Amino acid sequence: MELKTLYSPEKIGNVQIKNRIVRSATFMRSTEKYGFVGQNLINIYSELARGGTGLIISGYTAVDPSGTSSAYQACLYDDSFIPGQKKLVKAVHEYTDVKIAAQIVHAGRQGEHPKYPPIAPSAIPFKMTGLTPRELSTEEIRKLIQKFIDTGRRAYECGYDLVQLHAAHGYLLSNFISPYTNKRTDEYGGNAQKRVRVLIDIYNGLRDELGKNFPITIKLQTEDFIPNGLRLEDGAEHAKILSEVGYDAIEPSGGGGDAQTFTKKPYPSLNIKSSKEENYFLPHVKKIRPYLKNCKLILMGGIKNPIFAEKVLQDKIVDFISMCRPLIYEPNLPNRWKSGDLSPAKCISCNGCFMSMRIGPVYCVTKKRLEDTREKRKVINKK
Ligand SMILES: Cc1cc2nc3c(=O)[nH]c(=O)nc-3n(C[C@H](O)[C@H](O)[C@H](O)COP(=O)(O)O)c2cc1C
Repeated sequence: MELKTLYSPEKIGNVQIKNRIVRSATFMRSTEKYGFVGQNLINIYSELARGGTGLIISGYTAVDPSGTSSAYQACLYDDSFIPGQKKLVKAVHEYTDVKIAAQIVHAGRQGEHPKYPPIAPSAIPFKMTGLTPRELSTEEIRKLIQKFIDTGRRAYECGYDLVQLHAAHGYLLSNFISPYTNKRTDEYGGNAQKRVRVLIDIYNGLRDELGKNFPITIKLQTEDFIPNGLRLEDGAEHAKILSEVGYDAIEPSGGGGDAQTFTKKPYPSLNIKSSKEENYFLPHVKKIRPYLKNCKLILMGGIKNPIFAEKVLQDKIVDFISMCRPLIYEPNLPNRWKSGDLSPAKCISCNGCFMSMRIGPVYCVTKKRLEDTREKRKVINKK
């Protein structure tokens, strides 16, 4: 089978992406201390760019020190981070037509910074850490909105081709859109329109600063997977509003720390055991698609099969597919498929990579185990 659509170009806003393969944002725990880009992170991105991905979305990048989740998470909350970030973008752009987006985030109620207690739209306890976040005042929300805008502007100055707001997985922006974590009665809480107000204000601020040619995209919580949380119906309503506002692309997602405590499964919540469990956000994109106007849709979550990817693109169910864990195992996966080797991604979705971030730089645990076994065999055979 020919993967004609998967390897055809498509635009997000005015930016042309050379194929339909996106690296979904991935925190690699590989910056220098306190979020400065160093050679280790640059090497990871260069390898991805060399491997044929059309658009690389960066790991979540903090808009404020109070919103960091790790000392080894990229930051862009002030100008001191710009030189390193510029080098990273330049390294990616050395590969023809590869584009890179900056994903920007604040940890919100999932924050664990020793110096900054967690903050959120409402003071709802977070079971995973045992902490109850402090409720933000309206004035503080306005200041945080400005931090997202300033960070987006810095990303633009660094040469990033697009920006993506991280509004999923239980971080600050998704705390606003979920009825479970947002009980506010001011203009930032209440009905759907008010819960997404923060996303509208950030969008408008970024547009004013950066003009119409810089694509503004969003990874959007479309379901919380918890009792009394955000349902897919709400997620679709939010997607409709955001598409009308002008967002250039939406990557639906769901779950997060609360879902982990309810389901006792790590995020990403599915440890995929069979092909039937793959592509687990397909119902979400199908629900959302009819609501979108001039806004590209990215399918993320458990994508491993190039023939499936080609089909969802050909059928115009989505415009792009994105992958995270498969590209940790095989950064060269897009080139492998393009060369005609259509066997599915080698990633077994074991979540070992997700666990590895607790102790050091993220790596594929399964691949390492296989490599170690091969090495041991070699030694035994030599004896
Ligand atoms: C190690 C690791 C780091 C991640 N970091 C981020 C991140 O920085 N931002 C984000 O939005 N999602 C992050 N995710 C979630 C992925 O982008 C993706 O949504 C999820 O892994 C499902 O896609 P997959 O089945 O292709 O892995 C991370 C996931 C893993 C395993």
